[in-house]
This record gives sequence, C-alpha cells and structure tokens, in this order.
Amino acid sequence: MKYFIIIVIFFSGVISAQQARKNTPEEFKKAELIFKQKCTRCHGSEGRAFGNNFAKMDKKELRQLTEDMMFGPARLKPTETEIKAMIEYLISLHSNKD
Ligand code: HEC
Repeated sequence: MKYFIIIVIFFSGVISAQQARKNTPEEFKKAELIFKQKCTRCHGSEGRAFGNNFAKMDKKELRQLTEDMMFGPARLKPTETEIKAMIEYLISLHSNKD
C-alpha cells in the first residue's frame, strides 16, 4: 500500500510537470510539419485566413479552435502535447506577419 501511494505521487508529479513545461524544439518542428501537411491546403504556408479574429482570441478560444481544426478538417488525433505545440507554432506564424 505504501509503495502504491508513492507511485501515485510520483506519476502525478510527472504529469503536472509535463503540462507545465514548454514544447521542445522537436515538438515544435513536428507541429510545423503537421501544419504543412494538413493545414496549408486551406490556410496557406503563411497561415493565411488567420484574420483579425486570431489576434483577438484568448488562450481558451485558441486552444478550442486549434483542437477542433486538428480533429476536424485535418482529421488528426492529436495528443495534448501536439495541440500545445501547434498553438505555439500558430502564434509564431502570426507574429511573423507585419
Ligand atoms: C478544410 C479546410 C481547413 C483545414 C484543413 C484547416 N482549416 Fe483552420 N480554418 C478553416 C476555416 C474555413 C476557418 C475560418 C472559420 C471561421 O472563421 O469561422 C479556419 C479557422 C482557423 C483558425 C482560427 C483563425 C481565425 O482567424 O478565425 C485557426 C487557429 C485554424 N483554423 C487552425 C488550423 C490548423 C492548426 C489546421 C491544421 C491542423 C487547420 N486550421 C486546418 C479551414 C481549414
């Protein structure tokens, strides 16, 4: 029983650490690749169609939309990490614009 509790505490620590951490460069690259393969046919490689809406969205909306886009039109089954990396990629695309 004691070991079980220790294991539970250990894994809950691992999970919360994962949620808090930033994306690694590898994950970011992967998001870029997914974007190029699955999103550019509608959005273009520069993220066309991310209108003024995009800048106005709060984190929660952006997260919801990105998730919907990945599951929906892109027909992916993204993991939590992949969704987060995609959001970062989208923000970076957007901030490249003038
Ligand atoms: C089949 C075409 C299609 C594909 C594929 C697609 N999208 Fe979209 N996306 C749209 C359309 C159309 C809108 C505008 C919806 C609206 O404004 O109501 C949109 C809106 C968005 C927005 C909100 C931007 C804004 O200004 O409203 C984001 C963010 C987004 N898409 C991300 C993605 C990502 C990431 C992918 C790939 C995983 C993707 N989309 C794939 C068609 C597509």
